[in-house]
Amino acid sequence: MTSTATNREAMLDKLAALDAEHARAVGGGGEKYVARHHDRGKLMPRERIELLVDEGSAFLELSPLAGWGSDFAVGASVVTGIGVIEGVECMITANDPSVKGGASNPWTVKKIFRASQIAEENGLPTVALVESGGADLPTQKEIFIPGGKLFRDITRSSAAKLPTIALVFGNSTAGGAYVPGMSDYTVMVKEQAKVFLGGPPLVKMATGEESDDESLGGAEMHARVSGLADYLAEDERDAIRIGRRIVARLNWRKPYSPPDPPRDGRGYAEPDADPEELLDLIPADLKEPFDPREVIARICDGVSATNGAVFDEFKPLYGSSLVTGWARLHGRPIGILANAQGVLFSEEAQKATQFIQLANQVDTPLLFLHNTTGYMVGKEYEQGGIIKHGAMMINAVSNSRVPHLTVIMGASYGAGNYGMNGRGYDPRFLFTWPSAKSAVMGPAQLAGVLEIVARQSAESKGEVFDAEGFKGIKEVVEAQIEEQSLPFFLSGMLYDDGVIDPRDTRTVLGICLSVIENKPIEGTDRFGVFRP
Ligand code: COA
Repeated sequence: MTSTATNREAMLDKLAALDAEHARAVGGGGEKYVARHHDRGKLMPRERIELLVDEGSAFLELSPLAGWGSDFAVGASVVTGIGVIEGVECMITANDPSVKGGASNPWTVKKIFRASQIAEENGLPTVALVESGGADLPTQKEIFIPGGKLFRDITRSSAAKLPTIALVFGNSTAGGAYVPGMSDYTVMVKEQAKVFLGGPPLVKMATGEESDDESLGGAEMHARVSGLADYLAEDERDAIRIGRRIVARLNWRKPYSPPDPPRDGRGYAEPDADPEELLDLIPADLKEPFDPREVIARICDGVSATNGAVFDEFKPLYGSSLVTGWARLHGRPIGILANAQGVLFSEEAQKATQFIQLANQVDTPLLFLHNTTGYMVGKEYEQGGIIKHGAMMINAVSNSRVPHLTVIMGASYGAGNYGMNGRGYDPRFLFTWPSAKSAVMGPAQLAGVLEIVARQSAESKGEVFDAEGFKGIKEVVEAQIEEQSLPFFLSGMLYDDGVIDPRDTRTVLGICLSVIENKPIEGTDRFGVFRP
């Protein structure tokens, strides 16, 4: 067993690396472009967001590492996240004009799709802070056709009674003009906003007409002549003030309130165990198991008047490699499924299936805590029905209708990733710890399987297998799979909503649990056909 000091040191190293990557995202297009932007008297996207949200409130930034490992800037030239405006939880998107003029590359589009999916699933209004050079022209083939969905999503959101607000700070041309065009409310900043289908050069080419930016798409023109701007803002701060007033007038009411809301005066207790110790708990080597009850004790509410125990474990004596039970977080009830020993057997799959049904019966959200190497393999387990039992668990996860939250703490391999509600199963939110690793299987196992397959293939053709020559291939494959299993890479691909410090897990999940209450929480009694 590695010592807690070793574990802490390994986690702190990973957190330092995470801070460095987050700093790259915050740095946008780099010092030169940020300075130029500020010299023009303009604010950066995070500065605009800070002024937009309620003072002292938290902003839950999403997908900050989007595009990591690609040719594009980390963060994908847009900031997205959930912020509280006039007491209303809103999805906020903000182009970063310091990165290639705020142009949208393939990762920007994926990141905005994810933001609109979150707004739709959780029932949030959206505020877009617009300043973008439109499509990244060199990669237009990857964005032009799928990117049309961005504008469709804005009007579908409006039709679903989720208001959309565009605050236009700068360029919003060509396809980008449809962001304010499709939004319910538009605010344009005087002498800054530029909204037209084609700029002066394009108009000259197309029709021969001579024109200028202001008469084609200036804020004054849109406010006084075309009617596309509903409000004319004096400057950026005025636009943000108007944006806040628009949200204040949405008369927003959450449809759901939890059984014992934390606002009822009784409050909730902070965790009984110190969240700081989360850094000591996760073994530096993931092959070592750890007890998820220790994690639960550090992220869930402590014992209080409304909450007789921190964690009421369900079926503690059965299928002990998966821990299931009930807890509260920020006063809100949750059901938890957490891997204990890594491998999932038939008993664990059956227990998970029953527990997910119970949560649906009482309309209680579920939290999945991953540290699994997948379902057990081998003759005994195949004959015992591991496939049909794993399928039952996947059926329950797929058809469950209560909101799901997922945190990948450690390993998340194979179909275990699916059964535990990985990204492909659309949890409302999914966050990763820096200690996580996720792939179809471990790098060494994958390289080993490839070698066995290659050897059998050579032998079937009557050839001699070159074991020595394969060594090099095996090393390359192993290193590549290792790199592709790591959190920055997976976050870069938008396979999570962000990599978080384990000590922030409680706060992040608390925000998510409040956000999901913007839609009614209703479990289902309709699952697919189970094969018991
Ligand atoms: N695609 C790819 N790169 C773009 C881009 C786009 N749509 N828009 C801007 N860039 C790049 C520029 O080439 C420049 O790169 P460089 O610094 O490496 O040379 C960088 O982004 C900054 O652009 P710059 O023009 O210096 O910034 P600006 O703040 O003065 O102006 C815009 C920003 C968006 C107004 C201006 O770049 C522009 O008009 N872009 C084209 C807009 C357009 O017609 N888009 C239609 C696409 S549907």
